Amino acid sequence: MIIFGAGGDLTKRKLIPALFHLCHGKLLPESFAVVGVDRLEMDDHAFRDMMESDVQGNLGAAWDPATWARLRERLHYMQGDIKDQGAYQTLCERLSQIDAERGTDGNYLFYLAVPPMLFADITRLLGAVGLTSEGASDWRRVIIEKPFGSDLDSAKALNGMLHETLDEGQIYRIDHYLGKETVQNIMVFRFSNGFIEPLWNRQHIDHVQITVAESVGVEHRGAYYDTAGALRDMIPNHLLVLLGFLGMEPPNSFESDAVRDEINKVLDAVHPLTPEQVLTNAVRGQYGDGVMTNGEQVSAYRLSPGVAAGSRTETYAALKLTLDNWRWAGVPFYLRTGKRLHGQYTEVVIQFKRAPTIMFKDADTAQMSPDMLVLRIQPNEGIQMSFGAKIPGPRMRVGTVNMDFCYADYFGNAPATGYETLIYDCMNGDATLFKHAETVEKGWEIVESVQDVWSALPARDFPNYAAGSWGPPGADDLLKNDGRHWRRIRSSETS
Ligand code: BG6
Repeated sequence: MIIFGAGGDLTKRKLIPALFHLCHGKLLPESFAVVGVDRLEMDDHAFRDMMESDVQGNLGAAWDPATWARLRERLHYMQGDIKDQGAYQTLCERLSQIDAERGTDGNYLFYLAVPPMLFADITRLLGAVGLTSEGASDWRRVIIEKPFGSDLDSAKALNGMLHETLDEGQIYRIDHYLGKETVQNIMVFRFSNGFIEPLWNRQHIDHVQITVAESVGVEHRGAYYDTAGALRDMIPNHLLVLLGFLGMEPPNSFESDAVRDEINKVLDAVHPLTPEQVLTNAVRGQYGDGVMTNGEQVSAYRLSPGVAAGSRTETYAALKLTLDNWRWAGVPFYLRTGKRLHGQYTEVVIQFKRAPTIMFKDADTAQMSPDMLVLRIQPNEGIQMSFGAKIPGPRMRVGTVNMDFCYADYFGNAPATGYETLIYDCMNGDATLFKHAETVEKGWEIVESVQDVWSALPARDFPNYAAGSWGPPGADDLLKNDGRHWRRIRSSETS
């Protein structure tokens, strides 16, 4: 595995910890080796030491010296300028030497943990020295991080450039949401249980809510974030991954093409928003000063490092989407995401239709909550079903109760970064949990209609929500106008 950008954050926070977990689970081949490539002057030992202190800190209680010792001696480092063709010649020589020492069979996984403007150059330069050409018995694959383009045109251009050197089958576009156990569990929950699918449609479901709420701000990524905003940073990728898994038809198999085709069909069915609909079905917000739930005083987004003083970039986006197909016609999917919100949590709410009539005359129907299935993606990973039950007593009164499944109760707290499965799958040539070129382009197409209107009509009321709040009032109105409301989450359910 060759990591470009080995000195960066991703390598120490996610990639090496993920390799550590794979090594711990004995899921790495004996001949496995890593070559980190970056500009910093360092030898193998210095790289190993640097990773050791960073990764140990990141892994906390999961750290295990014996596992680390096995992984540590497989880490190598090569100093090089990734824009310079000469570095790729040196890389070829270095790889041949490691192949000879360890018997790696010439299978190479290139991980581009670098800024997006370098994706095309690195791939082209790898191609120029023959490192992307597969032989009869070896493979060459490239993992690419998000953001994959910044709009539809740039995503298409990037796909075009990558395809000049690589076959689609060699490209593994990462969306780390696909690496999350609870996201993968949406498919398992739907397709390994017989009782769910008959209810999973417009006959029984009133609407769906997808929330990715963050209490963190933009941290040290202000300069990038200010050019992207909440819509582009989160919706074409993470929120649409969730929409795809929730909306898809049962695939014929769990093969990558079968699954990815069904996801593409969902995205194809998203009803395009006209500019007029954008004004009513899309809400944006930017946070101002505020106090977080832990009492921390937070300054407005516009004061974050790297962010323009009068920035009109949104830190919150909510959309109402509908799907034009037989399963979902008329069922709204409400999506929302934002920074510096009241809590940090990701969840999906499936709200079922009410019973057609309530025969219990003492039941206070206005008080009765609709039946609801909550898929808690993070934290407190689990599934909750809310339904009506008889309140004990002589009168026939109905109250809402919850049935709760918590991952931790059954499976413990799996030490995972989400990258373990993705790296493992890529090494095994399984692209099911990676994005096809078409999926990426369809994602951009969906948000582009919104982005176009927002760019043409810059928001005049920013900042319009306080840090630590639930977001702009317009997001509540989006549902209120339809006689609905966002699920009210208790503070104990967030982190
Ligand atoms: C990233 C976004 O892709 O996902 C970040 O660029 C965001 O802005 C992050 O914070 C959220 O991921 P997670 O796994 O913390 O929900």
